[in-house]
Amino acid sequence: MAGCFSRTKISSVLLLLCLFFFSLSEARVYPVGGKDNAWRVPSSEAESLNHWSEKSRFLIGDSLVFEYDGSKDSVLLVTKEDYLACNTTSPVASYRGGNTTVKLERSGPYYFISGEQGNCVKGQKLIVVVISERHSKFTAGAPAPSEGVVPAAAPTSGGGRLHGELVVGFVAALVGSLVI
Ligand SMILES: *[C@@H]1O[C@H](CO)[C@@H](O)[C@H](O)[C@H]1NC(C)=O
Ligand SMILES: *[C@@H]1O[C@H](CO)[C@@H](O)[C@H](O)[C@H]1NC(C)=O
Repeated sequence: MAGCFSRTKISSVLLLLCLFFFSLSEARVYPVGGKDNAWRVPSSEAESLNHWSEKSRFLIGDSLVFEYDGSKDSVLLVTKEDYLACNTTSPVASYRGGNTTVKLERSGPYYFISGEQGNCVKGQKLIVVVISERHSKFTAGAPAPSEGVVPAAAPTSGGGRLHGELVVGFVAALVGSLVI
């Protein structure tokens, strides 16, 4: 019963729980390829950027950081067709400068290719599939969250976020008991 607590006590519990939730659900920043200066032609099939991206779980609000030599290369966001054809002529967006941050603001696939002629054909390309947080638990065959994730904001991914949802449920229950 909410009557066991004073109003101020409940307010501070709510505040703490909210802070806890926000710290757990903080968006993450992924260096592309999981290491410095990895936006380049991969040296082998095993170094393919898509091997890296398949091992990570990207959620709406996360960001990718592309690091490369800005005098020789660039990043193009393209359609699936242009990705498959390595067609650099009409990108959806293009980024230069050597240190490009792309925020993932919607769910679904993002297709990136190098802006440098010939590099995409040699394997400098990347598909990142963004899942919306709500559906993340139910994604069939989702890879283990910890594998290949470079620690950024949150120490764990799936677990922490799930925890956050439980906390929200708890907060909602507390608010409910206050109101009634
Ligand atoms: C590349 O895309 C442009 C515009 O979509 C198109 O006109 C051109 O034919 C394409 N080039 C190749 C080689 O597919
Ligand atoms: C690239 O940009 C990010 C933030 O936008 C920054 O934290 C990082 O230090 C930059 N890296 C380089 C090599 O400039």
